[in-house]
Amino acid sequence: MHPEIERIQATFEEEIASVKNSSDAQTIQVKYLGRKGPVQGLMRLLKDATTEERPAVGKAINDLKELVTAKIEACLATLVSEEQKEQLEREKIDITLPGRKRRLGRKHPITKALDRVIDILVGMGFSVQYGPDIETDYYNFEVLNFPKDHPARDMHDTFYISGDMLLRTHTSNVQARVMERESLPIRVIAPGKAYRNETISARSHLFFHQVEGFYVDKKVTFADLLATLDEFLNKLFGGEIKTRYRPSYFPFVEPGLEVDVSCLLCSGKGCPLCKHTGWLEIAGAGMIHPEVLKNVGIDPEEYSGYAWGMGLDRLVLIEKGIPDIRLFMENDLRFLKQFSGV
Ligand code: PHE
Repeated sequence: MHPEIERIQATFEEEIASVKNSSDAQTIQVKYLGRKGPVQGLMRLLKDATTEERPAVGKAINDLKELVTAKIEACLATLVSEEQKEQLEREKIDITLPGRKRRLGRKHPITKALDRVIDILVGMGFSVQYGPDIETDYYNFEVLNFPKDHPARDMHDTFYISGDMLLRTHTSNVQARVMERESLPIRVIAPGKAYRNETISARSHLFFHQVEGFYVDKKVTFADLLATLDEFLNKLFGGEIKTRYRPSYFPFVEPGLEVDVSCLLCSGKGCPLCKHTGWLEIAGAGMIHPEVLKNVGIDPEEYSGYAWGMGLDRLVLIEKGIPDIRLFMENDLRFLKQFSGV
Protein backbone atom coordinates (compact mmCIF):
# COMPACT_ATOMS: atom_id res chain seq x y z
CA MET A 1 0.00 0.00 0.00
CA HIS A 2 1.14 3.53 -0.65
CA PRO A 3 2.95 5.01 2.38
CA GLU A 4 0.85 8.17 2.36
CA ILE A 5 -2.34 6.15 2.50
CA GLU A 6 -0.92 4.12 5.35
CA ARG A 7 0.06 7.25 7.24
CA ILE A 8 -3.38 8.79 6.89
CA GLN A 9 -5.01 5.56 7.99
CA ALA A 10 -2.74 5.34 11.01
CA THR A 11 -3.45 8.88 12.23
CA PHE A 12 -7.14 8.37 11.58
CA GLU A 13 -7.17 5.17 13.65
CA GLU A 14 -5.43 6.99 16.45
CA GLU A 15 -7.80 9.91 16.41
CA ILE A 16 -10.96 7.87 16.20
CA ALA A 17 -9.78 5.75 19.12
CA SER A 18 -9.59 8.77 21.39
CA VAL A 19 -13.04 10.14 20.50
CA LYS A 20 -15.16 10.76 23.61
CA ASN A 21 -18.45 12.09 22.34
CA SER A 22 -20.53 12.39 19.22
CA SER A 23 -19.48 15.93 18.47
CA ASP A 24 -15.76 14.85 18.45
CA ALA A 25 -16.74 12.10 16.03
CA GLN A 26 -18.53 14.59 13.82
CA THR A 27 -15.45 16.83 13.78
CA ILE A 28 -13.31 13.91 12.64
CA GLN A 29 -15.90 13.02 10.04
CA VAL A 30 -15.70 16.50 8.54
CA LYS A 31 -11.93 16.58 8.88
CA TYR A 32 -11.28 13.30 7.04
CA LEU A 33 -14.11 13.06 4.57
CA GLY A 34 -14.57 16.74 3.73
CA ARG A 35 -13.72 18.06 0.28
CA LYS A 36 -10.47 19.53 1.50
CA GLY A 37 -9.67 16.58 3.78
CA PRO A 38 -6.73 14.14 3.48
CA VAL A 39 -8.74 11.32 1.85
CA GLN A 40 -9.88 13.58 -0.96
CA GLY A 41 -6.31 14.88 -1.13
CA LEU A 42 -5.14 11.39 -2.06
CA MET A 43 -6.75 11.75 -5.49
CA ARG A 44 -3.55 13.56 -6.33
CA LEU A 45 -1.79 10.15 -6.21
CA LEU A 46 -3.98 8.90 -9.04
CA LYS A 47 -2.77 11.63 -11.31
CA ASP A 48 0.88 10.85 -10.55
CA ALA A 49 0.46 7.05 -10.88
CA THR A 50 1.31 5.15 -14.03
CA THR A 51 -1.48 3.47 -15.95
CA GLU A 52 -0.55 0.10 -14.44
CA GLU A 53 -0.43 1.37 -10.88
CA ARG A 54 -3.64 3.38 -11.15
CA PRO A 55 -6.25 0.63 -10.45
CA ALA A 56 -4.43 -0.51 -7.32
CA VAL A 57 -3.98 3.03 -6.04
CA GLY A 58 -7.61 3.81 -6.80
CA LYS A 59 -8.75 0.74 -4.89
CA ALA A 60 -6.52 1.58 -1.94
CA ILE A 61 -7.95 5.10 -1.74
CA ASN A 62 -11.47 3.75 -1.98
CA ASP A 63 -10.81 1.16 0.69
CA LEU A 64 -9.51 3.86 2.99
CA LYS A 65 -12.56 6.02 2.31
CA GLU A 66 -14.88 3.09 3.09
CA LEU A 67 -12.98 2.21 6.22
CA VAL A 68 -13.04 5.78 7.49
CA THR A 69 -16.76 6.11 6.70
CA ALA A 70 -17.65 2.81 8.35
CA LYS A 71 -15.61 3.45 11.49
CA ILE A 72 -17.00 6.93 11.97
CA GLU A 73 -20.56 5.74 11.46
CA ALA A 74 -20.11 2.89 13.92
CA CYS A 75 -18.51 5.22 16.42
CA LEU A 76 -21.29 7.80 16.01
CA ALA A 77 -23.98 5.16 16.39
CA THR A 78 -22.70 3.88 19.73
CA LEU A 79 -21.93 7.36 21.07
CA VAL A 80 -25.34 8.78 20.14
CA SER A 81 -27.18 5.89 21.68
CA GLU A 82 -25.10 6.16 24.85
CA GLU A 83 -25.73 9.87 25.02
CA GLN A 84 -29.44 9.36 24.54
CA LYS A 85 -29.47 6.82 27.32
CA GLU A 86 -27.65 9.24 29.60
CA GLN A 87 -30.11 11.98 28.74
CA LEU A 88 -33.06 9.70 29.44
CA GLU A 89 -31.47 8.74 32.73
CA ARG A 90 -30.98 12.37 33.65
CA GLU A 91 -34.53 13.32 32.71
CA LYS A 92 -36.15 10.33 34.24
CA ILE A 93 -39.38 11.07 36.07
CA ASP A 94 -40.37 9.08 39.10
CA ILE A 95 -44.04 8.55 38.41
CA THR A 96 -44.53 6.93 41.77
CA LEU A 97 -43.80 10.22 43.62
CA PRO A 98 -46.92 11.72 45.18
CA GLY A 99 -48.28 14.72 43.23
CA ARG A 100 -48.26 18.27 44.47
CA LYS A 101 -51.52 19.19 46.11
CA ARG A 102 -53.33 22.20 44.73
CA ARG A 103 -55.17 23.98 47.45
CA LEU A 104 -58.27 25.90 46.50
CA GLY A 105 -58.58 29.39 47.91
CA ARG A 106 -61.76 30.31 49.69
CA LYS A 107 -63.62 33.44 50.58
CA HIS A 108 -63.13 35.24 53.86
CA PRO A 109 -66.07 34.64 56.24
CA ILE A 110 -66.95 38.34 56.11
CA THR A 111 -67.00 38.27 52.31
CA LYS A 112 -69.29 35.26 52.42
CA ALA A 113 -71.68 36.99 54.78
CA LEU A 114 -71.58 40.06 52.55
CA ASP A 115 -72.38 37.94 49.49
CA ARG A 116 -75.43 36.58 51.28
CA VAL A 117 -76.62 40.02 52.34
CA ILE A 118 -76.14 41.42 48.84
CA ASP A 119 -77.96 38.47 47.26
CA ILE A 120 -81.00 38.96 49.44
CA LEU A 121 -81.19 42.72 49.00
CA VAL A 122 -80.61 42.59 45.24
CA GLY A 123 -83.47 40.08 45.19
CA MET A 124 -85.58 42.72 46.94
CA GLY A 125 -84.89 45.32 44.25
CA PHE A 126 -81.81 47.14 45.54
CA SER A 127 -78.80 47.79 43.33
CA VAL A 128 -75.24 47.88 44.62
CA GLN A 129 -73.08 51.01 44.61
CA TYR A 130 -69.71 51.76 46.15
CA GLY A 131 -68.21 54.92 47.60
CA PRO A 132 -64.71 55.95 48.64
CA ASP A 133 -63.03 54.87 51.90
CA ILE A 134 -61.01 58.09 51.88
CA GLU A 135 -63.65 60.75 52.09
CA THR A 136 -64.14 64.47 52.56
CA ASP A 137 -65.55 65.92 55.77
CA TYR A 138 -68.44 67.12 53.61
CA TYR A 139 -69.77 63.71 52.51
CA ASN A 140 -68.98 61.91 55.75
CA PHE A 141 -70.48 64.58 58.04
CA GLU A 142 -71.53 67.96 56.72
CA VAL A 143 -74.06 66.89 54.09
CA LEU A 144 -75.48 64.39 56.58
CA ASN A 145 -76.50 67.19 58.90
CA PHE A 146 -73.50 67.02 61.22
CA PRO A 147 -72.43 70.69 61.40
CA LYS A 148 -68.78 71.31 62.29
CA ASP A 149 -69.26 71.59 66.05
CA HIS A 150 -72.08 69.04 66.32
CA PRO A 151 -71.68 66.81 69.40
CA ALA A 152 -72.72 63.73 67.39
CA ARG A 153 -69.33 63.94 65.67
CA ASP A 154 -67.83 62.82 68.97
CA MET A 155 -69.56 59.46 68.60
CA HIS A 156 -67.32 58.86 65.61
CA ASP A 157 -63.67 58.81 66.63
CA THR A 158 -62.45 59.93 63.27
CA PHE A 159 -59.13 59.29 61.58
CA TYR A 160 -58.32 62.56 59.89
CA ILE A 161 -55.81 62.41 57.07
CA SER A 162 -55.16 66.03 56.27
CA GLY A 163 -57.31 69.14 56.14
CA ASP A 164 -60.77 68.01 55.16
CA MET A 165 -59.87 64.44 54.25
CA LEU A 166 -60.66 61.53 56.55
CA LEU A 167 -61.32 57.80 56.59
CA ARG A 168 -65.07 57.41 56.41
CA THR A 169 -66.58 56.58 59.78
CA HIS A 170 -69.61 54.92 58.20
CA THR A 171 -70.91 53.86 54.79
CA SER A 172 -73.52 56.63 55.05
CA ASN A 173 -71.06 58.75 53.03
CA VAL A 174 -72.42 56.97 49.95
CA GLN A 175 -75.96 58.29 50.52
CA ALA A 176 -75.40 61.88 49.38
CA ARG A 177 -72.99 60.87 46.62
CA VAL A 178 -75.61 58.59 45.08
CA MET A 179 -78.53 60.96 45.66
CA GLU A 180 -76.61 63.76 43.94
CA ARG A 181 -75.83 61.81 40.80
CA GLU A 182 -78.73 59.40 40.28
CA SER A 183 -82.23 60.26 39.23
CA LEU A 184 -85.14 59.32 41.46
CA PRO A 185 -86.41 56.89 42.61
CA ILE A 186 -83.26 55.47 44.20
CA ARG A 187 -83.06 52.04 45.83
CA VAL A 188 -79.42 51.33 46.62
CA ILE A 189 -77.21 49.33 48.96
CA ALA A 190 -73.61 50.35 49.59
CA PRO A 191 -71.36 47.78 51.24
CA GLY A 192 -67.91 48.75 52.44
CA LYS A 193 -65.43 49.33 55.22
CA ALA A 194 -65.70 52.01 57.87
CA TYR A 195 -62.96 53.24 60.20
CA ARG A 196 -62.96 54.55 63.73
CA ASN A 197 -60.09 55.42 66.00
CA GLU A 198 -61.05 53.07 68.79
CA THR A 199 -58.98 50.91 71.07
CA ILE A 200 -58.62 47.48 69.50
CA SER A 201 -60.04 44.68 71.61
CA ALA A 202 -61.70 41.30 71.23
CA ARG A 203 -65.02 43.11 70.58
CA SER A 204 -64.01 46.11 68.45
CA HIS A 205 -61.51 47.06 65.79
CA LEU A 206 -60.26 50.11 63.93
CA PHE A 207 -62.15 49.11 60.86
CA PHE A 208 -65.27 47.10 60.30
CA HIS A 209 -67.78 46.32 57.58
CA GLN A 210 -71.15 47.90 57.01
CA VAL A 211 -73.95 47.61 54.52
CA GLU A 212 -75.81 50.85 53.94
CA GLY A 213 -79.23 50.72 52.37
CA PHE A 214 -81.49 53.57 51.30
CA TYR A 215 -84.61 54.21 49.31
CA VAL A 216 -85.87 57.60 48.13
CA ASP A 217 -89.14 58.01 46.25
CA LYS A 218 -92.51 59.70 46.51
CA LYS A 219 -94.45 58.49 49.55
CA VAL A 220 -91.82 56.30 51.16
CA THR A 221 -93.06 55.72 54.69
CA PHE A 222 -91.81 54.60 58.05
CA ALA A 223 -93.90 51.42 57.61
CA ASP A 224 -91.94 50.70 54.40
CA LEU A 225 -88.70 50.87 56.36
CA LEU A 226 -89.87 48.47 59.05
CA ALA A 227 -91.39 46.05 56.55
CA THR A 228 -88.24 46.05 54.43
CA LEU A 229 -85.97 45.43 57.41
CA ASP A 230 -88.25 42.70 58.73
CA GLU A 231 -88.32 40.96 55.38
CA PHE A 232 -84.57 41.28 54.90
CA LEU A 233 -83.64 40.08 58.39
CA ASN A 234 -86.02 37.16 58.19
CA LYS A 235 -84.49 36.09 54.90
CA LEU A 236 -80.98 36.53 56.30
CA PHE A 237 -81.61 34.51 59.45
CA GLY A 238 -84.10 32.05 58.00
CA GLY A 239 -87.20 33.40 59.69
CA GLU A 240 -86.11 32.19 63.08
CA ILE A 241 -85.62 35.57 64.67
CA LYS A 242 -87.70 38.39 66.00
CA THR A 243 -86.95 42.06 65.31
CA ARG A 244 -87.26 45.02 67.63
CA TYR A 245 -86.97 48.74 66.88
CA ARG A 246 -85.88 51.25 69.50
CA PRO A 247 -85.86 55.03 69.14
CA SER A 248 -82.37 56.41 68.71
CA TYR A 249 -80.55 59.44 67.37
CA PHE A 250 -78.52 59.99 64.22
CA PRO A 251 -78.35 63.55 62.80
CA PHE A 252 -79.21 62.39 59.28
CA VAL A 253 -82.46 60.57 60.06
CA GLU A 254 -85.69 61.57 61.76
CA PRO A 255 -87.05 59.55 63.43
CA GLY A 256 -83.98 57.45 64.14
CA LEU A 257 -83.94 53.82 65.21
CA GLU A 258 -81.75 51.14 66.52
CA VAL A 259 -82.52 47.70 65.10
CA ASP A 260 -82.29 44.64 67.32
CA VAL A 261 -82.72 40.96 66.48
CA SER A 262 -83.51 38.28 69.03
CA CYS A 263 -80.25 36.77 70.24
CA LEU A 264 -78.91 34.27 67.70
CA LEU A 265 -77.33 32.19 70.44
CA CYS A 266 -80.11 31.84 73.02
CA SER A 267 -83.09 32.74 70.77
CA GLY A 268 -84.05 35.50 73.15
CA LYS A 269 -83.93 33.58 76.42
CA GLY A 270 -80.96 35.56 77.68
CA CYS A 271 -77.28 34.61 77.71
CA PRO A 272 -73.91 36.30 78.27
CA LEU A 273 -73.65 37.22 74.56
CA CYS A 274 -76.80 39.36 74.66
CA LYS A 275 -75.98 40.44 78.20
CA HIS A 276 -79.14 38.62 79.29
CA THR A 277 -81.39 40.99 77.36
CA GLY A 278 -82.34 38.45 74.69
CA TRP A 279 -81.54 41.03 71.97
CA LEU A 280 -78.59 41.95 69.76
CA GLU A 281 -78.20 45.36 68.21
CA ILE A 282 -77.33 45.04 64.53
CA ALA A 283 -78.16 48.27 62.69
CA GLY A 284 -79.06 51.92 62.84
CA ALA A 285 -81.91 53.16 60.68
CA GLY A 286 -84.45 55.91 60.15
CA MET A 287 -86.28 58.20 57.75
CA ILE A 288 -83.80 60.37 55.84
CA HIS A 289 -83.77 63.83 57.40
CA PRO A 290 -85.39 66.56 55.26
CA GLU A 291 -82.19 68.63 55.66
CA VAL A 292 -80.17 65.87 54.00
CA LEU A 293 -82.59 65.70 51.07
CA LYS A 294 -82.40 69.50 50.73
CA ASN A 295 -78.60 69.38 50.81
CA VAL A 296 -78.57 67.16 47.72
CA GLY A 297 -81.27 69.12 45.89
CA ILE A 298 -84.24 66.82 46.53
CA ASP A 299 -87.49 68.49 47.57
CA PRO A 300 -88.52 66.98 50.94
CA GLU A 301 -92.11 68.12 50.36
CA GLU A 302 -92.33 65.85 47.35
CA TYR A 303 -89.96 63.01 48.23
CA SER A 304 -89.14 61.00 51.30
CA GLY A 305 -86.74 58.17 52.02
CA TYR A 306 -85.43 55.70 54.52
CA ALA A 307 -81.91 54.50 55.28
CA TRP A 308 -80.17 51.94 57.40
CA GLY A 309 -76.58 51.01 58.20
CA MET A 310 -75.86 47.50 59.35
CA GLY A 311 -72.65 46.11 60.84
CA LEU A 312 -71.42 42.78 59.49
CA ASP A 313 -68.47 41.81 61.67
CA ARG A 314 -70.35 41.24 64.89
CA LEU A 315 -72.97 39.20 63.07
CA VAL A 316 -70.41 36.78 61.66
CA LEU A 317 -68.70 36.68 65.03
CA ILE A 318 -71.93 35.56 66.66
CA GLU A 319 -73.04 33.21 63.89
CA LYS A 320 -69.74 31.35 63.81
CA GLY A 321 -69.03 31.51 67.52
CA ILE A 322 -65.76 33.37 67.00
CA PRO A 323 -64.36 34.67 70.28
CA ASP A 324 -62.22 37.57 69.00
CA ILE A 325 -62.88 40.09 66.22
CA ARG A 326 -59.14 40.53 65.62
CA LEU A 327 -59.03 37.06 64.06
CA PHE A 328 -60.82 38.49 61.01
CA MET A 329 -57.98 40.85 60.21
CA GLU A 330 -54.93 38.71 60.97
CA ASN A 331 -55.03 36.49 57.88
CA ASP A 332 -53.97 33.46 59.88
CA LEU A 333 -54.60 30.49 57.59
CA ARG A 334 -55.25 28.20 60.53
CA PHE A 335 -58.24 30.38 61.35
CA LEU A 336 -59.41 31.07 57.80
CA LYS A 337 -59.22 27.43 56.69
CA GLN A 338 -62.01 26.55 59.06
CA PHE A 339 -64.48 28.41 56.88
CA SER A 340 -64.72 26.13 53.90
CA GLY A 341 -68.10 25.42 52.39
CA VAL A 342 -70.09 28.18 50.79
N1 PHE B 1 -74.25 55.39 59.87
C1 PHE B 1 -74.79 54.96 61.11
C2 PHE B 1 -73.66 54.34 61.97
O1 PHE B 1 -72.66 53.97 61.42
C3 PHE B 1 -75.87 53.94 60.93
C4 PHE B 1 -77.07 54.46 60.23
C5 PHE B 1 -77.17 54.42 58.86
C6 PHE B 1 -78.14 55.00 60.96
C7 PHE B 1 -78.30 54.89 58.21
C8 PHE B 1 -79.25 55.49 60.34
C9 PHE B 1 -79.33 55.41 58.97
O2 PHE B 1 -73.77 54.26 63.16
